[in-house]
Amino acid sequence: MARHLFQGLVWSLALALCAAAPTQDELEPRRNYIAEAGLSVTENYHPLIRVPLDRESLKTSRFPEVQDGLDARQLGPGTDHIKAIPLQTQYLMQVGIGGSNWSMIPDTGSSDTWLMSSTFQCLDRSHQLQAQGYCNFGPSYKGGYSGGKITGQHMNISYGGGDSLNGDFGYADVTVAGIKVPKQQMSLVTSASIRGNGLFSGILGLGMRGLTTAYLGTDPTKDSDANAARYAPLVETLGLNTTVKPIFSVAMSRNDSRSFISFGGVPPDVKTGEFATIPIAQISLNGKPREYLYYGLRPESVTFNNTQTHSNWTKPGLMIVDTGTTLNYFPRDVADNINSLFSPPAEYYGSGTYVVQCDAAPPTVEVGIGGKQFRIDPSSLILPETRQAEFDADYCTTGIARGSGTYILGDVFLQELLVVFDVSDKKEMKFAQRVDKV
Ligand SMILES: *[C@@H]1O[C@H](CO)[C@@H](O)[C@H](O)[C@H]1NC(C)=O
Ligand SMILES: *[C@@H]1O[C@H](CO)[C@@H](O)[C@H](O)[C@H]1NC(C)=O
Ligand SMILES: *[C@@H]1O[C@H](CO)[C@@H](O)[C@H](O)[C@H]1NC(C)=O
Ligand SMILES: *[C@@H]1O[C@H](CO)[C@@H](O)[C@H](O)[C@H]1NC(C)=O
Ligand SMILES: *[C@@H]1O[C@H](CO)[C@@H](O)[C@H](O)[C@H]1NC(C)=O
Ligand SMILES: *[C@@H]1O[C@H](CO)[C@@H](O)[C@H](O)[C@H]1NC(C)=O
Repeated sequence: MARHLFQGLVWSLALALCAAAPTQDELEPRRNYIAEAGLSVTENYHPLIRVPLDRESLKTSRFPEVQDGLDARQLGPGTDHIKAIPLQTQYLMQVGIGGSNWSMIPDTGSSDTWLMSSTFQCLDRSHQLQAQGYCNFGPSYKGGYSGGKITGQHMNISYGGGDSLNGDFGYADVTVAGIKVPKQQMSLVTSASIRGNGLFSGILGLGMRGLTTAYLGTDPTKDSDANAARYAPLVETLGLNTTVKPIFSVAMSRNDSRSFISFGGVPPDVKTGEFATIPIAQISLNGKPREYLYYGLRPESVTFNNTQTHSNWTKPGLMIVDTGTTLNYFPRDVADNINSLFSPPAEYYGSGTYVVQCDAAPPTVEVGIGGKQFRIDPSSLILPETRQAEFDADYCTTGIARGSGTYILGDVFLQELLVVFDVSDKKEMKFAQRVDKV
């Protein structure tokens, strides 16, 4: 409810500005930047639906918000009446596995594809067994792997915030946006310390090979680099089909009618400005050779209210493009700076996040990528669905949080952009601002 009001304000403001001067489009016919970038439109697209996650829920990013031990209520004097604010939202899509469709989170921040098995053990944070309902997942998978179980290998994955999962591996045909990816290695989860939102049943891992978490043997307590076994994740198996281009793209929007993921090309009806192209950075973990793990990139700049980043992060470091993380995670001083520029200013809330009056004026935040500046859509910088009507406060979570060590461009950045992940030998990402918002 709050969301519509907030968007309404921003959009009418944008319209008022547009009316002042003829836009580029009125002066000349719009160029087709999608075609100019060598991209083609595909019919293999699927809606991405945005749903709220509550505080107890899974953080799908591998890299959590900072766990700084601060009590959630340790706020400025004016805001200690704010209680728990549901932190995040999540995008879901339907994926076909074993003859049914499942709600799954498409996650570029991890590479394993899994569904909760109907017999899974639900564990709490201290790994005590609980009833399955405690984990609050969507429908779970009954039965086995259509392409057979893989013996002597298991999944052992930990996400940010302490979520961890163990499962078997097997092969199954996985259908995404109408494309059948045959014999994809995936996991049915047998034990899980994670909490869902009652809607989704698993994660579609869209990261690259280096992030897969298979281990040889059967005893997860013995897992280490020594028994790790990488395998082809979905984006690699997809590339084996020579009729499908090895790319996928996301066009995320807070408006579900304009929010898509597509495979092999870009979704129809999305219009953009010019694209910027940047190579996917290879990353070295624990002194090992550099490899492709995350969709990492080094922005050229981060600018807020027209001030170039000035701080210990004089030149932005590596950032990860993560569809499974809601917020943007910047270094602490950069996040503090940006949050101080809301009018009135945002305040630190805890667990890396900040709160601000829901009707505050957001600052401008731009990320320089591939020689272009990408401005975060103002409507993304305050999350109206985090508003808590039952408390007398009128506070919402802001889109910019403190990270620790690893920094993330999450949904807040991706909304209103078209982002193409090219996992062919090119290994690059393309970004363009969308211009099809009504
Ligand atoms: C799964 O979803 C697709 C696309 O929405 C639909 O065509 C198909 O019939 C669905 N399959 C089942 C088993 O419901
Ligand atoms: C490749 O993908 C196309 C489109 O989904 C499909 O029709 C075809 O069967 C696939 N080929 C193989 C070998 O999987
Ligand atoms: C593997 O799973 C076990 C049991 O859940 C856990 O104790 C261990 O930390 C995990 N190891 C790795 C490398 O994820
Ligand atoms: C969402 O997008 C659709 C399709 O472009 C549009 O018709 C609708 O007005 C938009 N909704 C809002 C709340 O702006
Ligand atoms: C820069 O880093 C130093 C040492 O890590 C720290 O003491 C200082 O507070 C940082 N400055 C800012 C503006 O965060
Ligand atoms: C930052 O820019 C926004 C939008 O232009 C403005 O509302 C806000 O007052 C600015 N913040 C400061 C501290 O100047």
